[in-house]
Amino acid sequence: MRFSLVATNPLAPDWLSLPGDANALGEGLWPSTTTRNADGELVIGGVTASALAAEFGTPLYVIDETDARGRAAELRTAFEAEFARIGTSARVYYAGKAFLSTEVARWMVAEGLNIDICTGGELAVALAAGVDPARLGFHGNNKSLAEIDEATRVGVGTIIIDSPIEIDRVAAAAARHGRVQAVRLRVNSGVHAHTHEFLATAHEDQKFGVVLEDAPRLVAAIRAEESLRFLGLHCHIGSQIFGVDGFAESAARLLAVHAGLLSDGPVPELNLGGGFGIAYTSADTPTPIRELAAGLADIVSAECRRRGIPVPAIAFEPGRAIIGPAGVTLYEVGTIKPVDVGGATRLYVSVDGGMSDNARPALYGADYSVRIADRVSRAAPVLVRVAGKHCESGDIVVDADYLPADVAPGDLLAVPATGAYCWSLSNNYNFQGRAPVVAVRDGAARVLVRGESIADLLARDTGVSTGSTADGVSTGSTADGVSTGSTTEQKDILR
Ligand SMILES: Cc1ncc(COP(=O)(O)O)c(C=O)c1O
Repeated sequence: MRFSLVATNPLAPDWLSLPGDANALGEGLWPSTTTRNADGELVIGGVTASALAAEFGTPLYVIDETDARGRAAELRTAFEAEFARIGTSARVYYAGKAFLSTEVARWMVAEGLNIDICTGGELAVALAAGVDPARLGFHGNNKSLAEIDEATRVGVGTIIIDSPIEIDRVAAAAARHGRVQAVRLRVNSGVHAHTHEFLATAHEDQKFGVVLEDAPRLVAAIRAEESLRFLGLHCHIGSQIFGVDGFAESAARLLAVHAGLLSDGPVPELNLGGGFGIAYTSADTPTPIRELAAGLADIVSAECRRRGIPVPAIAFEPGRAIIGPAGVTLYEVGTIKPVDVGGATRLYVSVDGGMSDNARPALYGADYSVRIADRVSRAAPVLVRVAGKHCESGDIVVDADYLPADVAPGDLLAVPATGAYCWSLSNNYNFQGRAPVVAVRDGAARVLVRGESIADLLARDTGVSTGSTADGVSTGSTADGVSTGSTTEQKDILR
């Protein structure tokens, strides 16, 4: 099938420019090992997209191990070096909410990072990975009593107190387990940042943390507890942030309060959170990590000097900037439909996944990019919208990008920068089984998390019997498939 649609399309968003070559892999968008081979195929970690799709099926999350570990190492070394320059240390926690599996947890620890968790489930994954609990930071605005108890029992390194009521809860749990628990206090600096802009307000209307003015009173309460040790303030100003300004404003506000806290006891640390932006499309220009680290070190140094206080140890907790660019999702094109929109044509290209494997576009209008993965084409670029297969009109994977006009059913599509907050936000909408995650490195691929089979989907439905149900509906041999982990089975049965 061939569509002769005008290349320059009025439906294209302002930020999207017509590419000279709709096969080109935009700079900074793809995992560092990505190339196209002589046949025009996308190769990630030395494995072709078609080989990955043939072995594991689609949709498929692919994580480039070299890229993820390289970014973790780059981030840690950049922050360590820049903060050493101003006479202090920097610790990096990988924000597991972006993507967590036991193997990824082990990669992060091997690269010298700690891990930030925010539920008992994430704690369980980190422990199953063999991560030393002392390397874990435990977040959450509503940690359950059971979660707090478990975290203090196993010896989680730090707990981030998110509301006044947690002071008593964490203190009691730590005392019960005979521990002195190190804690941070999460505060709202009043700085909200998104991409290039930030907004600074006095108060925040949100569920996380406590207002900055309450910090002295709450820190006093923490210090009054024998089973707690106060480490310092914590703040996370948002996600997908470019530039240093938002972090700098927030750090300055935090250090003003931090300085006051020093009169009543030690404040060894300051945690400035995560949120470093990445490139999802050609319009995104992330701040180079070294520049960010240098800018933050400069502001922390200047603020401490101005206040005449020692520079505290600094901690960060990025997730997206480490794992986001390392991930690519592969899909197969099923249907293609040109839709007339006020005289212009939008080409809807529907794939075999969607908001179940990437909820971000539906959740908050996130933009992505797309390329054909198993071939290149000389056809002129045409504006496409990549849609999912779910029963929601907002089920969009890529709102707008250009693909060669001969894009066709059966083509493999690759969506880059899907390593963060895609698998971790995945769901079973429409009883779509969650896609597997594979890691690629040096020409080999292996499953990090297997995909879900039909048997998995039926496993928790108490009305399913093995054999025939009363009204004659046969459930087949679902029980057999539950724990096989067979990717062939997933591919054949499910997708
Ligand atoms: C407290 C906290 N720290 C770190 C992060 C990680 O943010 P990012 O993945 O954007 O770096 C988040 C994200 O929501 C967060 O809430």
